[in-house]
Formats: sequence, structure tokens, C-alpha cells
Amino acid sequence: MDSIDTMQGADASLLTKNTQIVFDAVVKRFPTGTTALDGIDLAVRRGEFVAVVGPSGCGKSTLLRMAAGLECGTDGSVSLGTDSVGFIFQEPTLLPWRDVLGNVELSAELGHLDSRTRRHRAVAAIDSVGLGGFANQLPSALSGGMKMRVSLARALTLLPDVLLLDEPFGALDEMTRHDMQSLLYTLCTEGEFTAMFITHSVAEAVFLADRVVVMTPRPGKIHSIVDIAFDGPRTESLRFDSRFTDYAARISSILRGVA
Ligand SMILES: Nc1ncnc2c1ncn2[C@@H]1O[C@H](COP(=O)(O)OP(=O)(O)OP(=O)(O)O)[C@@H](O)[C@H]1O
Ligand SMILES: [Mg+2]
Repeated sequence: MDSIDTMQGADASLLTKNTQIVFDAVVKRFPTGTTALDGIDLAVRRGEFVAVVGPSGCGKSTLLRMAAGLECGTDGSVSLGTDSVGFIFQEPTLLPWRDVLGNVELSAELGHLDSRTRRHRAVAAIDSVGLGGFANQLPSALSGGMKMRVSLARALTLLPDVLLLDEPFGALDEMTRHDMQSLLYTLCTEGEFTAMFITHSVAEAVFLADRVVVMTPRPGKIHSIVDIAFDGPRTESLRFDSRFTDYAARISSILRGVA
């Protein structure tokens, strides 16, 4: 895979065999004068799931946009070990006049994949998110959770090495959210994606992540990084495990401290 630097003059050698995204002394100041990020150092390992939590406005979305190359930094560098990236936003952003299949094929279409490959990948992705049988439905006929499944499937058609997700489940009710977390966990485990996941939910971060990054209020810096270690696969029962609640309490307490 090619690697890309999202800032001019960045030193791609910061990437190692085991790292997929490297933020090195990243500073982001907007022309308005707002300093969103200040001195971010973070290396995301290949196949790792990193969740980022922090107060509103601390620069989480900016950080993710920089990883995607959608935003340039003021100082420092962001290096990505692949050019195969899927970005998933809080809103599913589906085209209302296209059915599920048409929406899922969209990214592959924009990537100029031939129609046979596109169709093949879209059908597989729709199945993998549990929407087999809904391929010909319009978005208006889908629930919020189903729309988010379509959004996930659309990203999967690019066969991404990296998934960048900005509060993708923020608008969903709790039960649907839990279902989506389990789906994402399964997809990431089976697909061996590297994932960077922004959330306001500490429980969501603990359920999904290998490491949880806690940021300070703006200008955003990394306050702490908490390793989350559970034995075995993460299933619904984990939410009632005392280690789960201990991790959540610890991270919530750090967040209260930084706020
Ligand atoms: N294009 C922009 N121009 C100027 N300022 C911006 C721009 N984008 C973001 N900011 C500012 O940068 C800071 C960080 O914004 P960002 O959206 O990254 O925060 P966030 O942590 O994702 O917040 P939230 O949790 O509310 O989504 C905010 O103060 C915001 O106003
Ligand atoms: Mg945000």
C-alpha cells in the first residue's frame, strides 16, 4: 500500500512496520485565531482500535479530519501508512433518491471501480452489515440504525485498511447503539482494520477500544491514554463485568478532572 503524508514536508519515516497513523507534534490553528490542537503525539498501531474522548470543542473532529487528509496542520506532521481509508460521519449522508445498493455503491463509483467489482463488493458489504434483503429499499424506508449500517457498508466497499469514525452512533437510541457497537466490533475484528473512533460515550469507548485517548479542553492536548484489556471477545455481557465498569469509572473521572 502507498503511504501518504497529510502535511507538506512531513517525515513519512515516522511510520514503522507496526504503525498505521502517526501524529507528530501536531498543532492546528485556524485562520480565525482558534488553536484547536496543540502538540499532539500519537501513534496508532496497525489493527488497533483507538477511541478518542474529550470535552466538546477540544479538537476531536479536527484530529480525525487531519488523519483523513481533509485538514492541513499548522505545525508537526500526520503520516498515514495507507491510502485506503473509510470515513464515517455522525450523519449517514445517504442520497435519498438512491436505494441501499445504489448508496453503498457510491464510494466505489467515485473510486472508478468497474461496475462488476462495485456490485460484488456492495452486495458483500450489505450482507456483512446485516442488511441483506434491503438492497432495493430507499433511505426513507430505513430506521436510523439501518441508515448507519448503509453508511458503514459504503465505507467497506473501499476495502479500507483504516476506518475513521466521527461519533457515528451519537444520534441513535441506546439499544440500537449497542447493536451497532457489536457490529463494528465484529467488522473490525474480522477485517483487521485500524480504527480511530471519536465518541462522547465513555462506555462506547471502553466496549470498542484497545486504547482510549482522553483529551483536554481546547486547545486539545492528549491528557492520558488508557489501555483497555479484556480476555476474549467482547460481547453484551461485558457491559455488566466489573472490569468494564472500573474502566468506565476511571475514564469518566479523568474526564471530570480535565473539564
Ligand atoms: N473550520 C474552522 N474554522 C475555525 N474554527 C474551527 C473550524 N473547525 C473547527 N474549529 C474550532 O476548532 C475547535 C475544535 O473543533 P472540533 O470540531 O474539532 O471539536 P470537537 O472536539 O470535535 O467538538 P464536538 O465534541 O463538539 O464535536 C472548536 O473551537 C471549533 O470552533
Ligand atoms: Mg466533533
